[in-house]
Amino acid sequence: MRNMTEAEMTDVVLQRYADAPDPRLRTIMRSLIRHLHAFVRDVRLTEAEWLAGIEFLTRTGQISDNKRQEMILLSDNLGVSALVNMVSASVPEGATESTVLGPFYVPESPAREWGESVLLRDGDDVPLLIHGRVLGPQGEPVPGATIEIWQTDANGMYDIQDKAQPEHNLRGWYRARQNGEYLLKTIRPTSYPIPTDGPVGDLLRATARHPFRPAHLHAVVCAPGYQKLTTHLFDAEDTWLDSDVVFAVKSSLIRQFTLNESAEAAAKWGTRGAFWELANDFVLSKSE
Ligand code: BEZ
Ligand code: FE
Repeated sequence: MRNMTEAEMTDVVLQRYADAPDPRLRTIMRSLIRHLHAFVRDVRLTEAEWLAGIEFLTRTGQISDNKRQEMILLSDNLGVSALVNMVSASVPEGATESTVLGPFYVPESPAREWGESVLLRDGDDVPLLIHGRVLGPQGEPVPGATIEIWQTDANGMYDIQDKAQPEHNLRGWYRARQNGEYLLKTIRPTSYPIPTDGPVGDLLRATARHPFRPAHLHAVVCAPGYQKLTTHLFDAEDTWLDSDVVFAVKSSLIRQFTLNESAEAAAKWGTRGAFWELANDFVLSKSE
């Protein structure tokens, strides 16, 4: 078909995608085309604006590598990652909710021993001990589950952003015992700005948005027969909880860290002096 009118264009393009053999791909592509065309019509997009958008996406791709994932950051900033999480995660009553993975996950982080600290640099930081159990939907212990954690250091940067930190600082995975119990040791997380030195930072500035995430630590909990849980634990005292730049806060994931100054408790958990403490169970859903 030639000389299409603006009104005809969308139907013609949709028709060309009508024979895609994979039905899911067909559904996704046809919906994407409908919405993209509607967007172009809605804002009467100019050619200069479309080119600026393409250049923005090109820079977003070009700045990305295995340590910097600007594409994920963009998806997070547009609320798309959080929305995909919402529409795809079905959380049975009582199970721990999931949230976004974010761009700072590193596969194959090191194993940590029971109660070993993930803080690999020197310093007199007050430790944070997190203990609890990994449970199934009926409250049954999940033996041998793995709990992988990562978080920023006190300067608000992840190890992979900051050459001054030892590799794998503040990340690693723990194994729960046969009764589902786990004990991990870290430091209290801080709020931090997401990277603003790339295209996503340009977008934040152009739209007068702040770049902060509320203090949190990330956790991925896995066990055979259960759904992988990708989640966060947020600090209840943080000031950015209601305006997370990536829209990923869920109330059920907010936790109060308490300062424990009891010598008896320190002896029980094998630590010295006062420490922040959190009792936290992760409740997994069965896999289908
Ligand atoms: C994070 O929490 O690591 C994160 C998530 C989304 C965007 C940027 C950072
Ligand atoms: Fe984070």
